Amino acid sequence: MASQTQRKVPVAHTITTIGGTPPQEAMVDKIVKAFTITPEYLEEITQHFLSEMKKGLNEEDQTIAMIPSFVEGRLTGEEVGQFLALDLGGTNLRVVLVDLQGRGNFTTKSTKYKVSDSLKTGDVKDLYNFIADCIDSFLTEHNLDYGTADIHLGYTFSFPVYQSKINRGLQKQWTKGFNCSGAIGKDPVILLQDALAKKHVPVLVSALVNDTVGTLLSNAYSKPDTNAGIIFGTGSNGAYIEKMSNIKKWKGGPTSSDEMIINMEFGAFDNERVVLPVTPWDNKLDRESINPHKQIFEKMISGMYLGEIARNVLLELVDRTLLFEGYSSKELNSQWGFETTYMSTIEADQGDSLKETHRVLSSSLNIPKVSEVDCRIVKRVCDLVGTRAARLAAAAIAGIARQSSSVQNGCDIGIDGSLYEFYPSFEQRIEQGLVELFPDVPDINKRIRLGLAKDGSGVGAALCACVAKKMAERRPSV
Ligand code: GLC
Repeated sequence: MASQTQRKVPVAHTITTIGGTPPQEAMVDKIVKAFTITPEYLEEITQHFLSEMKKGLNEEDQTIAMIPSFVEGRLTGEEVGQFLALDLGGTNLRVVLVDLQGRGNFTTKSTKYKVSDSLKTGDVKDLYNFIADCIDSFLTEHNLDYGTADIHLGYTFSFPVYQSKINRGLQKQWTKGFNCSGAIGKDPVILLQDALAKKHVPVLVSALVNDTVGTLLSNAYSKPDTNAGIIFGTGSNGAYIEKMSNIKKWKGGPTSSDEMIINMEFGAFDNERVVLPVTPWDNKLDRESINPHKQIFEKMISGMYLGEIARNVLLELVDRTLLFEGYSSKELNSQWGFETTYMSTIEADQGDSLKETHRVLSSSLNIPKVSEVDCRIVKRVCDLVGTRAARLAAAAIAGIARQSSSVQNGCDIGIDGSLYEFYPSFEQRIEQGLVELFPDVPDINKRIRLGLAKDGSGVGAALCACVAKKMAERRPSV
């Protein structure tokens, strides 16, 4: 299996005419204004993003945390062997067996496990007991027995962690839908290793990896010019290769390379709300979330949240009797009731009658009366929320490209996550944003080469475990 796969993502079909009553048109205009990011505004956001990146590199505890990953230097392509990867922090928990065969070649076998809401918000010990059970049953299922040797595991833990070694770190906070007690300030590797030890599961947690770092590594395995890994999925974040000399806050002592991967944690960008176009509908989402005032950028660009922003806009239209004749439904009234996948279907819908949009609204959401004008308004709202997300995503990519001077030389950027993979025209909209942000570079989309890095969390974690194992063999104390 190669790390890149060909994919067919549907195209978003934009509509320009709503054909509504004057009050409907006036309200739609207002919504359009609130969500539109002009090229000049996009540039302003990018500049602020870049200056926040620099702050994070200079000092601890900045809004964009810019966390050194302890992954030094670059892959050789010679990384081989069998490793386990554990992926926590996306839609599902996954255990993956990765067989690295060198030069970008690998095979994987994986099993997904659903993490219930009560585990996501309960005592962290229960979560780790559950995880240890999942790993144990995976080993049995795949008949994995390494005799007396422990199997090395790379742990993709997709939350902010202040790392102190390749396999050590302290959790800073939870993000996305997680909020377990007893985890903040603790080392996720120790919590996992203890739970495994209690159940006598023969696995050694040898690397702790953010999913963005894993994505960078898995992309770099087959594309050596990779300099960033990005997730646009349930949450959003990026990692890139930085020169040690630019990491002014580094206190970790001498390193074996003059470069290190930085886990940016850019989801927190502009929590102060200096520059982002935060609307009342974003504020409502934020206020009702389990982490108010945190991760504001992430909440404007990620799969977990886009549907909810759109729902908030639609409910305001209903309340003003400008949509569905003023009637909502139990589904539309429920928090998270308007899923981002509905937006994908609606954005891809085309033709005059917007049949798919009508189906989502009447069948999935049980709205009693849906007119063609209603369908067009809903489609326009999805377009606005989805386009704004992709343009903000472009600002982040441009910030990374400017900081790492990768425009001149060209680079590959590996991206993973459901939004990037499946949301109609998400990538094209990012590319359009990049064209606007680099007006003097006519072939910008050939220089900053975006591509799907499939299974960064699995393969990337295995690569990291492989690097860590080599380091440990060289230096037994690591
Ligand atoms: C959240 C997490 C971050 C992760 C991202 C994508 O932003 O804080 O660590 O990389 O989601 O999964």
